[in-house]
Amino acid sequence: MGINVALDGPSGAGNSTIAKMLAKKLKYVYVDTGALYRSIAYYVISKDVKPDDAQSVNALLGEIDVKLAYEGDAQKVLLNGEDVSDKIRTPEISMGASAVSAIPEVREFLFSLQQNIAKENDIIMDGRDIGTVVLPNADVKIFLTATAEERANRRYKELSEKGDTSTYEEVLQDIIQRDYNDTHREIAPLKKADDAIEVDSTELSLEQVVDKIYGIILDKTGKTEKAEKRVSARKLPEAEPVVRGKKLNPIKMIFYNILRPIVIFLFKCYYNLSYEGKENIPKDGSNIFASNHRSYTDPVLIAMPTRVPCSYMAKDELFHQNVFFTLLIKAFGAFPVTRGKGDTAAIDLSMEKLNKGRNLVIFPEGTRSKDGKVGKGKTGVALIAALAQVPVIPVGISFEGKLKFRRKIVVRFGKPISAEELNI
Ligand code: DC
Repeated sequence: MGINVALDGPSGAGNSTIAKMLAKKLKYVYVDTGALYRSIAYYVISKDVKPDDAQSVNALLGEIDVKLAYEGDAQKVLLNGEDVSDKIRTPEISMGASAVSAIPEVREFLFSLQQNIAKENDIIMDGRDIGTVVLPNADVKIFLTATAEERANRRYKELSEKGDTSTYEEVLQDIIQRDYNDTHREIAPLKKADDAIEVDSTELSLEQVVDKIYGIILDKTGKTEKAEKRVSARKLPEAEPVVRGKKLNPIKMIFYNILRPIVIFLFKCYYNLSYEGKENIPKDGSNIFASNHRSYTDPVLIAMPTRVPCSYMAKDELFHQNVFFTLLIKAFGAFPVTRGKGDTAAIDLSMEKLNKGRNLVIFPEGTRSKDGKVGKGKTGVALIAALAQVPVIPVGISFEGKLKFRRKIVVRFGKPISAEELNI
């Protein structure tokens, strides 16, 4: 069973937008239960049945198959296989959904569907009765409110942007009517669960609401607590954060700028090489590149698109093979780390390189993966990022089998993750 967050509240309090943003931030699945009621309303209206005619609505339930599907972050609503995600967002369907949601058989019909989704995933589910009926044991329950006027204001803006001609007064009346319907229906009326935390969004911006609820979720699920414990147990040494943007020795830069295009040319001739996300590489130095480790060419593959020379943390064994090899890798920026123990000298050297304005490349898995599967990373990258307060750029290197002539290699650079985002 995953972590369940229930987010309830009246229409237009921003529940769905906020739930979506939170789900993205927490990497949870977002479940919009209102969309399920809307789909039922859409179906019955399309059959010329009045949504408050319980008997006729119930007679149609057997014909309805409603599912939620996910494409990346986006939730799609499939009604008998048809994607109705956009069609269910009209004022007529909003009122219809409110009406069908008062019918006990409709609620029963959607109940297990909602519970099953929650069983399988870490979810944030938004609706009216999630904390009270659908997920009474949810890990976190939020009740999000705002005054009817403020909610009408937001909804009116949203509808106008979509070209809807409803007036502010009409939107406000709709909201008041839906509030009344949702709170006065006999079955599962909208109300705050006893153990829910109420958040009033009237005076808050979207970001402020998201931050507030995000904090509550981390608190309730114990995540901040654990992170704090880890940091204090580790007792971070005192270190001055790196001053970014330092210029490197101009003579070394000339050498680097001559060598770089030659290496790029040779590699592109020999391999079928492509890069993705090059726009994520900062123009200045003092960044950490954290990459999976596929082959001995990885340092070169990462260095080629970076304008600032990189230093590499490399296993100590490589420095004891032969003198020529050791000199060569040192000349290209490698420095040793002893694996399997807290090598403070390697941390000091990392700080020194970053302080000079060089980029730092680390392979957190600590060893090459021969089959391309990514292994578990060690935590040293986060420690160095925390000490230096520099961003970490995730790198993925992939190719099939062994590296050989014209082998297709893809190198992907992810978005930089700031030290704050690493939550350290
Ligand atoms: O969140 P929404 O506006 O999309 O919801 C549409 C209607 O569905 C709303 O008027 C109340 C109803 N609903 C409900 O009764 N229970 C839920 N869990 C979700 C929505």
